[in-house]
Amino acid sequence: MKNYLSINDIDTLQDWVEEAKALKSNPKKYETLGKGKTIGLLFFNNSLRTRLSTQKAAINLGMEVIVMNFGSEGWALEYEDGTIMNQGTSEHIKEAAQVISQYCDVIGIRAFAGLEDKEKDEAEVVLTGFQKYASVPVLNMESSVGHPLQGLADAITIDENKTKKRPKVVLSWAPHPKALPHAVANSFIEMMKLQDAEFVVTHPKGYELNPELTKGITIEHDQEKALENADFVSVKNWSSYSDYGKVLNKDASWMMTKKKLGAAKFMHCLPVRRNVVVGDDVLDSNQSIVIEQANNRTYSAQIVLKKIIENL
Ligand code: CP
Repeated sequence: MKNYLSINDIDTLQDWVEEAKALKSNPKKYETLGKGKTIGLLFFNNSLRTRLSTQKAAINLGMEVIVMNFGSEGWALEYEDGTIMNQGTSEHIKEAAQVISQYCDVIGIRAFAGLEDKEKDEAEVVLTGFQKYASVPVLNMESSVGHPLQGLADAITIDENKTKKRPKVVLSWAPHPKALPHAVANSFIEMMKLQDAEFVVTHPKGYELNPELTKGITIEHDQEKALENADFVSVKNWSSYSDYGKVLNKDASWMMTKKKLGAAKFMHCLPVRRNVVVGDDVLDSNQSIVIEQANNRTYSAQIVLKKIIENL
């Protein structure tokens, strides 16, 4: 595998999950595989889990790690071809990506959606700019439309916690005061399409995700009905896709509670706003598997990096 840009770069999800679980039981098994190799992690947006878990994964494989908060410390990049750069941008992606390729054997990129211009966000200018001009593999650490390291960690977490071959998994929208991107929900759906599971997405009207992505997926606007007999409930806010980037609804009745969760396991990618997205009663209960999810971010990154290094 050269790049890991989306869940669709996974050839066989179940094999990757099994390999990740094996790495988890022996994280240092390949501690010399990445010796002499450097990964550069470029953050255009904040992070806790992605930054630390990807670093830890790289260290477990013997790699050196360089981290740069590009959004606040790097030169403002230009992505358009042929631009007269007499405005705010100082460096073109063509030079930046090639220069970083001189220092790094793999480049990880975190660059969220701006949520103002759907076409621009869907073009993934930062991620695809690096993919186009870097001479080394590129790793998506959450882009405008996808968070495939999170999606893979979620698959590992479901596999570890399932008690039946074909569990019922629900992705439920939750209220949030700010407009959030669609990336986590998108990758969760892409990952669930590769699973043997009963899968339902529930959200208020107006929060339909990209119809190309949800084609063939069961959408239920009645949250209570969607949650019936669920084994796993993954909760996430996203802003409107059709009324792009807007917060249409802050209906607190969509918050996840212990009563609504029933006997299901609770999942969230974190960070999460307590008592807005989910109640304390859920997060502080043993039905919450959010810390396991966060732990599995290391092993999703490690299996991806292992496959990239093996192909260098
Ligand atoms: N889930 C996740 O990506 O967390 P961070 O934004 O803290 O990296």
